Amino acid sequence: MGPDEWRRLRAVRLRALSGAPGAFASRLEHEQARAAGEWRRWATPTAARTTFAAVEGPRWVGIATGVLDERGDVADLVGMWVDPDRRRRGAGRSLALAVVGWAATAGAAEVRLWVVGENAPARLCYERAGFRATGRVQPLPRDAAVLEVEMRRAVEPPTARVRSHRPDPRSAPDPALAD
Ligand SMILES: CC(C)(COP(=O)(O)OP(=O)(O)OC[C@H]1O[C@@H](n2cnc3c(N)ncnc32)[C@H](O)[C@@H]1OP(=O)(O)O)[C@@H](O)C(=O)NCCC(=O)NCCS
Repeated sequence: MGPDEWRRLRAVRLRALSGAPGAFASRLEHEQARAAGEWRRWATPTAARTTFAAVEGPRWVGIATGVLDERGDVADLVGMWVDPDRRRRGAGRSLALAVVGWAATAGAAEVRLWVVGENAPARLCYERAGFRATGRVQPLPRDAAVLEVEMRRAVEPPTARVRSHRPDPRSAPDPALAD
């Protein structure tokens, strides 16, 4: 996603907030009032923040954002949403894993998220992406009667660079490869 796509980001995010108001800490009215510049910044990837869109042809069917914390060792997964008529097809899990992959390249050791305790589909989706509940809970900032649970997963560091192995014809065969 890039800065020129901020209008699409805004449209999807507002759809998410109006369709699943209970799932997010933010409110629709608050985000409807955001200025264009804020959306543009949100759509612009930086070293500390990036937003992924799940795409089907020309259509954006989901979004999720990764945000690196100040120390750089934990990334937060926020704003996850998939279009209701595109759910249960793996988009949510793919978005979560995209954020995990980005967090690895950004240098984080863990990805953290907070999910409303009663949001079973989201919790299951995150579990399928390797997240586990830590046991920590906190009240939802906009409604203290609702509890959010923390989930985390470790991030594998970026894989080693790979190249094909060209055996030196002068060296003896590797005994480990013998039949
Ligand atoms: C949570 C959400 C993003 C999941 O998106 P999704 O694309 O449907 O998720 P996936 O298809 O990748 O599901 C992955 C796994 O999660 C589990 N899961 C997801 N939704 C489920 C449901 N409604 N019931 C049971 N299991 C569910 C399943 O194990 C699923 O794997 P499977 O289909 O192979 O069995 C979507 O339901 C959503 O946008 N909800 C509203 C917004 C929201 O709650 N956001 C999270 C804020 S923290």
